[in-house]
Amino acid sequence: MDIQFRPRRLREHPVLRRMVQETRLSVDQLIYPMFVCEGEGIREEILSMPGQFRFSVDTLLDELQQVRELSIPAVMLFGIPDDSQKDSSGSAAYDKNGVICRSLEMAKKHIPDLLLIADVCLCEYTNHGHCGLIQANTEDQVMIQNDKTVEALARTALVYAQAGADVVAPSDMMDGRVNYIRKALDEENLEHIPILSYAAKYASAFYGPFREAASSKPDFGDRHSHQMDPANSREAIKEVSLDIDEGADIIMIKPAMPYLDIIFQARQTTHLPIAAYQVSGEYSALCAACSQDWLKREAVVKESLLSIRRAGADLILTYFAKEVAEKIARGDF
Ligand code: PBG
Repeated sequence: MDIQFRPRRLREHPVLRRMVQETRLSVDQLIYPMFVCEGEGIREEILSMPGQFRFSVDTLLDELQQVRELSIPAVMLFGIPDDSQKDSSGSAAYDKNGVICRSLEMAKKHIPDLLLIADVCLCEYTNHGHCGLIQANTEDQVMIQNDKTVEALARTALVYAQAGADVVAPSDMMDGRVNYIRKALDEENLEHIPILSYAAKYASAFYGPFREAASSKPDFGDRHSHQMDPANSREAIKEVSLDIDEGADIIMIKPAMPYLDIIFQARQTTHLPIAAYQVSGEYSALCAACSQDWLKREAVVKESLLSIRRAGADLILTYFAKEVAEKIARGDF
């Protein structure tokens, strides 16, 4: 038998090519991460993340309305308190009058159908910039008190849910926090609030621009005592399984592009929805190369997001959400 294999047959006609396309991105899969700061009338571009802004609670409303008009279903909110509100225990995180609670109340009232996801972590609220209460530290080694931090995180998640968060998203990587947050929510009749856990969050250098955006850079030491070693993958699956056992409803892998193998493996392990976070450094690196015309923005943004979907992510957090939503609406994505 003289069979000629010609896979190119399916690539020739553009219509057929579209029909056999295996992976797609829909606007329903996008989550837009946003930063809210204290003050009024603020809409300040983040230097290290061109096209992304810090909003005060009043200007945030306009932006959220635009996000909604683009049919983006959900936002993830990060709070940036004033330096004067920060302390060693990060108590501003669970202040009912803090930026996040005020944003959630405002957004719930004016745009009830926009899904509000609140990032739950202490690093933006501690004066040392670490994700929890510090037990001891040397110049380059920081020990965080796991269980005390988990209590503060649960308190924070509860306050956010009470202020209007539809989903809470712990990003701290402390042990046992999903279980603890679940119990805290359930005790207050918030058993309907889902937990999106940053299950496998790596100690990544790709968070650099975010830390500038949120002024959450640690004063000393690093996050290797709680975030995962980039060299490990079995450990990621262990983290994912633990969070599922503790009651997570959606699990997240973060960052996205450098960890596509982890997304793929998580996809083989769980039936839960998987979210992937295309983080600040992924965004800024692409923006920088595109601004030099070394890469074509539209094409690389599309390819990066499709690769994340192809690896197995259902949902993608990306700072490109708005421009991608516009393209999807015009039918050219
Ligand atoms: C912690 C948190 C971080 C990011 C999201 N949540 C920073 C960190 O762990 O240092 C990074 C997101 C990004 O880089 O876009 N609250």
